[in-house]
Amino acid sequence: MNAEPLRRYLEFYRDLGVKSLYRVAPPPGAAARVRDRQEAAPLPPEPMLPILPSLSPEDDTLEKIRADIGDCTRCRLHQGRNKLVFGDGNPQARLVFVGEGPGADEDAQGIPFVGRAGQLLTQMIENTARKEGIPLRREDVYICNVVKCRPPENRTPEPDEMEICGQFLFRQLAVIHPKAICALGGTAARALLGRKEGVTRLRGNWHGWRDIPVMVTYHPSYLLRPYNQNAKREAWEDLKKVLHLVYD
Ligand code: URA
Ligand code: SF4
Repeated sequence: MNAEPLRRYLEFYRDLGVKSLYRVAPPPGAAARVRDRQEAAPLPPEPMLPILPSLSPEDDTLEKIRADIGDCTRCRLHQGRNKLVFGDGNPQARLVFVGEGPGADEDAQGIPFVGRAGQLLTQMIENTARKEGIPLRREDVYICNVVKCRPPENRTPEPDEMEICGQFLFRQLAVIHPKAICALGGTAARALLGRKEGVTRLRGNWHGWRDIPVMVTYHPSYLLRPYNQNAKREAWEDLKKVLHLVYD
């Protein structure tokens, strides 16, 4: 394995919270092969045998990720789901929105952000873009969630559920590799940044997931509550920053 795939491999496990990786002992004869290099050309492949399988392969695609998820029962959230909600939009999007997890409407349709919060998100994207003179529709971006199955009673996903399902989110983000990510709400911020602070503290400034800029803003469900109308203005400001970074 040369440096770049190895770096990405290690980053992938770091994002999953794996603290240490071990190399297994090289197979017998490997040391002799290294000694013989001067004479022997071309070089034999490096004996690098990680104990964990590569979960984020070089030639990954959204189709492969969806196939690997399959009829997933890796966490307890599978028990209550009707439809698994993988993601929606342009697989080559320059901008990805990450929510928390499917609600009732999303669970019924298998599409993220189609309920009331979703309609607000769609309006926010399209109206802000129009006001800023950017021709952008919802279908031009990619939208997904930290967990792909609806938590019971729309509760916040548990840390273990986020960690297990997060591997698929990270693969989606690595494949799409957008110019920016917009984290909607505290759960998405926690999953992407590993930060526990609230949205109020994190929003408005640029953070990063790997090499991709991340803007944190309020979740549209939060903006639907009538006493949070100040936050609406702030969310619009955040979204403007994102759209200008990506589309200017
Ligand atoms: N809320 C989310 O976080 N995601 C959805 O897909 C819908 C509502
Ligand atoms: Fe699998 Fe994710 Fe659904 Fe859990 S939430 S069952 S990990 S797809």
